[in-house]
Amino acid sequence: MEQSNPNFEKYVFVCTNERPNGERVSCGGSFCGTELSEKLKDSVKAAGQAGRIRVSKTKCLDVCEEGPNVLIYPDNVWLKHVGLADIPAILEKLGIKP
Ligand code: FES
Repeated sequence: MEQSNPNFEKYVFVCTNERPNGERVSCGGSFCGTELSEKLKDSVKAAGQAGRIRVSKTKCLDVCEEGPNVLIYPDNVWLKHVGLADIPAILEKLGIKP
């Protein structure tokens, strides 16, 4: 094992987990997690911040009913019930001015 510093200043983990109908709700299946992940990633890229901030899809964070869920590290911030309209506010939290 080797240890090093992360390549990015911040990591934004967006849950895109999907489950079949009839199972527990999921950020990517029941809510807009997948679209949120893609649009947030595009927004960070459009702002020229893709080298500083990494938006990554993640699987279940076990808070499904609160979804869509987003975690920001190293800030240790959990955003829940996130909608596409919240993207500007998330960018602001990441230090990206409109
Ligand atoms: S499916 Fe997103 S937290 Fe479980």
